[in-house]
Amino acid sequence: MQTLETIRKRCSLKAHISKRGIEMEKINLILEAGRLAPSARNYQPWRFIVVQDRKVVERLVKAFSESNQVILDAPLILLICARAGDDVIKNGIEYYLFDVGLAVENIVLAATELGIVTHLMTAFDEEQVKQILHIPEDVRAVVATPLAYPLNASYDEAASERLSARTRKDIKELVHLNHWTEAEPA
Ligand SMILES: Cc1cc2nc3c(=O)[nH]c(=O)nc-3n(C[C@H](O)[C@H](O)[C@H](O)COP(=O)(O)O)c2cc1C
Repeated sequence: MQTLETIRKRCSLKAHISKRGIEMEKINLILEAGRLAPSARNYQPWRFIVVQDRKVVERLVKAFSESNQVILDAPLILLICARAGDDVIKNGIEYYLFDVGLAVENIVLAATELGIVTHLMTAFDEEQVKQILHIPEDVRAVVATPLAYPLNASYDEAASERLSARTRKDIKELVHLNHWTEAEPA
């Protein structure tokens, strides 16, 4: 089951990264994975900004409060934005950000499958980022990720070690059978 394997393999960047550029063909596949995500009423609120220009990256990094070296070293920073517009609101839930999350997951999984590491980041000043990248008023800058090859060729082989080190709630804490049980399931 390839998808599950890729989900298990994906993790936030835990390696030194190579400055080697990402091939255009792979960038396009990753963006295509985002483009094909489902969205409420097929609204497709996601917008992607591919930042490769070093001068822009050097300005952009100043808007980040952490992971600055990774931002500088990565050959490409992808910013995922959301256009709210007349998106679907059901039960008081604004679905455009949910939709963007689906596109983001497609993106990080596609990158993983192509041997490219990602690290989602929100530790940035949105207004500064919007100003630097000329993002319109009605568009939100939601999350950024570097896209980079790991420096060490054996990074991929160590995926199972990284998986076992991953902290996740036990499945029993997450799943309720037939109805919600007041106490969290033991
Ligand atoms: C929406 C979102 C925002 C995040 N922002 C940051 C961030 O600003 N800085 C950071 O170091 N990690 C950030 N992360 C990464 C999470 O901390 C990470 O996904 C989580 O700890 C699980 O680890 P894993 O991605 O290796 O499975 C973010 C993740 C998501 C989904």
